[in-house]
Amino acid sequence: MKDKKVIRFNLIENALAKHYMTILRNKNTKVSEFRFALDKLSKILAIATVENFELTEIQIETPLEATQGQTLNSPIVIVPVLRAGLSMLPAFIDFLPEAQIGFIGQRRDEKTAIASEYYRNFPEIKNKKIIIIDPMLATGGSAVSTIECLLAEGGKIEDLFLACIIVAPEGLANLQNKFPQLQIFACALDRCLNEKKYILPGLGDAGDLWTGMS
Ligand code: PRP
Ligand code: URA
Repeated sequence: MKDKKVIRFNLIENALAKHYMTILRNKNTKVSEFRFALDKLSKILAIATVENFELTEIQIETPLEATQGQTLNSPIVIVPVLRAGLSMLPAFIDFLPEAQIGFIGQRRDEKTAIASEYYRNFPEIKNKKIIIIDPMLATGGSAVSTIECLLAEGGKIEDLFLACIIVAPEGLANLQNKFPQLQIFACALDRCLNEKKYILPGLGDAGDLWTGMS
């Protein structure tokens, strides 16, 4: 059997993703519409992220006859990066209602854009698939710090998946350089970072917009 080629960066740019991305980016979008669009994009990402997860064959009976089915077998931990990662959590739980949830808090310094961890609370993560969710990957500092933490807690790089709404080329290169095995999923690869390390064209501050603070 031929090995399926593993693509480490997966850009999901279908018509629905483009439609909701446009709503998300528009500065005239109301907070209710922003949350709605972010939830839809997160659902698109959730489907893409688990697309190649292992399935176990099971025997079931339809009302008419016995048949073979498949079930997702590996335990999954979803890790939203606080705060903005929480915005994607309902969509992921919707498709993965059995998943455990672990939290990590990362805050970028407003002047230096350097991320620092301020909170962590995980279930046991060994031998589990771990999906990190965070809408924005800018310099990659928050994601690097999160991944280092998960590896230190016993996670394996081949079991880590990062799902972002928008990624910047700088952050993507940073991650691919440090963790070439990491699987990354995104709905947009933007142009670059500005001098304040915000993504262009981007959408602004995802955490502030989702919480209704801006
Ligand atoms: C945002 C975003 C990412 C990070 C990305 O969080 O949600 O976690 O910035 O930037 P980076 O790739 O340069 O690290 P922020 O630190 O603004 O915190 P928040 O989620 O509380 O708004
Ligand atoms: N965090 C955000 O919320 N937006 C950016 O553009 C960069 C980091």
